[in-house]
Amino acid sequence: MAVDVLKAVGQQLEITFDFQEALIGGVAIDATEEPLPAASLEQCRQSDAVLLAAIGGYKWDNLPRHQRPETGLLALRAGLGLFANLRPATILPHLVDASSLKREVVEGVDIMVVRELTGGVYFGQPKGIFETETGEKRGVNTMAYTESEIDRIGRVGFETAKKRGGKLCSVDKANVLDVSQLWRDRITQLADQYPEIELSHLYVDNAAMQLVRWPKQFDTIVTGNLFGDILSDAAAMLTGSIGMLPSASLGESGPGVFEPVHGSAPDIAGQDKANPLAQVLSAAMMLRYGLDQPSAADKIEQAVLKVLDWGYRTGDIGSEGMKLVGCREMGEILLKALAEPDA
Ligand code: IPM
Ligand code: MN
Repeated sequence: MAVDVLKAVGQQLEITFDFQEALIGGVAIDATEEPLPAASLEQCRQSDAVLLAAIGGYKWDNLPRHQRPETGLLALRAGLGLFANLRPATILPHLVDASSLKREVVEGVDIMVVRELTGGVYFGQPKGIFETETGEKRGVNTMAYTESEIDRIGRVGFETAKKRGGKLCSVDKANVLDVSQLWRDRITQLADQYPEIELSHLYVDNAAMQLVRWPKQFDTIVTGNLFGDILSDAAAMLTGSIGMLPSASLGESGPGVFEPVHGSAPDIAGQDKANPLAQVLSAAMMLRYGLDQPSAADKIEQAVLKVLDWGYRTGDIGSEGMKLVGCREMGEILLKALAEPDA
């Protein structure tokens, strides 16, 4: 679907895409027993950008960890050095009523979560399930950040805030965790280089509460891998559905990965119910952040707005009086909207 949209917009703007497919996750496990075959990673490395669909499914849930789909995704992020994950949570005026929160709380919310993606407790050593002296098992993960890891994601946070509303909120757990104390110290020091940015700090528990209490206080949030994972889901839900939200994962150089924030939703697989818009908007993010084609990105984003203007909704964003459509039909309507001359 997103590929069809890219082809359509490519035709209009005379951009030629050279699409290649590579296996990751469940299909890769079935074909090669590995969630990220070396050939797939290499193919991604050779590309200008990677558009990723969601991974995971019941079938692969009980495999050993090194063979799970999720491990493939983590290996892709690590393999391409994608330390910065941008997850926007923007409320579209059309969808205010799809939010589970009151209109006055969510109307106008526009947050960007900048999540560190290749460090922290997801990757820290030691990790594993070990046996203690008494023969009991002990599960271990390590939350660790070096100064340079904090600085580089911190800079992305400040730079992102600069292009947006000029406010950056750094989220940590510095009242308990040493790794967070270092995080807070470094972010505070970095702030000297960005006098124009209004920096604040929140503990992650408070940040979660503030996100649902009064989300409009946030502009840009910068945080570590695990806190960002959790807070970005919470921020996503403010918008009514995680089915609308794209993300970009970027490194210092090389291709970025663009994927929806949502997972593979195995509970509705094959029912033509899923909302394709997050995947399509991920393609738009790819054009903007990965391929330097902002007008093509604009075109896709405008087409999405148009479809919503026309009143079409998938189930996850449906509300009274709207035209309920399935995934495929939503795609077809989107292609129609794209084909319309600009207003
Ligand atoms: C996400 C997902 C992944 C994560 C999983 C699937 C490994 O939840 O992209 O947010 O935790 O990063
Ligand atoms: Mn997640």
